[in-house]
Amino acid sequence: MIDFCGIELAHPVVNGSGTFDALAARRAFGDALLEDFPFAAFVSKTVTLEPRQGNPPPRLWELPAGLLNSIGLPNKGLRRYLAEDLPELADLPVPLIVNVMGASPDEVGRLVAAFAERDEVAALELNVSCPNVKTGLLMGADPGETAALLDEVRHLTSKPLIVKLTPNCASPAVVAAAAEAHGADAVSLINTLRGMAMDPRRPGRPWLGGGTGGVSGPAVRAVALAQVREVRSRVAIPIVGMGGVQSARHASDLLEAGADIVGVGTESFRDPMAGRRVADELARLATRGPAARRGDLEPSARIAQNG
Ligand SMILES: Cc1cc2nc3c(=O)[nH]c(=O)nc-3n(C[C@H](O)[C@H](O)[C@H](O)COP(=O)(O)O)c2cc1C
Repeated sequence: MIDFCGIELAHPVVNGSGTFDALAARRAFGDALLEDFPFAAFVSKTVTLEPRQGNPPPRLWELPAGLLNSIGLPNKGLRRYLAEDLPELADLPVPLIVNVMGASPDEVGRLVAAFAERDEVAALELNVSCPNVKTGLLMGADPGETAALLDEVRHLTSKPLIVKLTPNCASPAVVAAAAEAHGADAVSLINTLRGMAMDPRRPGRPWLGGGTGGVSGPAVRAVALAQVREVRSRVAIPIVGMGGVQSARHASDLLEAGADIVGVGTESFRDPMAGRRVADELARLATRGPAARRGDLEPSARIAQNG
């Protein structure tokens, strides 16, 4: 068992928010999913106060080594999430971490307060990749903004607060330090890197309906490693490391760089049981010792290692 902010986890692998729909997976796989759930905790897709339609299509563009997405955080909004999704998510055999986002510290505060009183929720993750409507600055791109956000919401809950850092700023490590100083219990990183693709048939026009999108998958793995290492050098609180994890080796690299647990995101679209596979491979590596780490990986890890 691993202790993460006072939450007991069976292993160090969770999902990246928005990359695994546990309710849809339950419908597809039935109770078999609950008997062998791929993650040690389930992180919800971002929930906002009001319902969101998300961005117009196209929403995805495949990259040579990853994915560019512009989903735009579609969700049913707080009221319906509490009434419809939360009771079902409470049936999952693992702790639930709810990811929230608002357009101002006040909005985030209303989301935090609403989930603070729900026993089904073990912790909250704050998605700060959103501009503050009052200042125009990304709440997670500026240490002052992040500090102000935590000052507004920290006292609203005793549940652990995880700040999901954005890589699209001058220094995620400085933002992480501000989050820690203002009461965050943990940080998670990286979120997607801003990117874009041109429309192959309409010269000068972006492919994605949202214009720009977020890059994830193997393409961001090296960025994630560097940022996790830098953040670790600035904070003592736990780190959820993610970005391009496809195998135990990638997970182990993030843990060595300073993460306490790891998230699997884009890889779950290819293999919904990727989280379980990575966790099992990690456990086998741990029992076989450091020599096994690089030379004797599972076949799936070896393939990914060559990629
Ligand atoms: C399709 C898609 C949807 C995502 N939705 C969210 C989201 O709702 N909230 C959030 O905080 N991060 C979201 N993310 C970011 C992931 O949780 C993760 O931080 C990022 O993809 C890096 O990990 P990966 O390379 O393993 O995918 C999304 C990523 C993808 C690819």
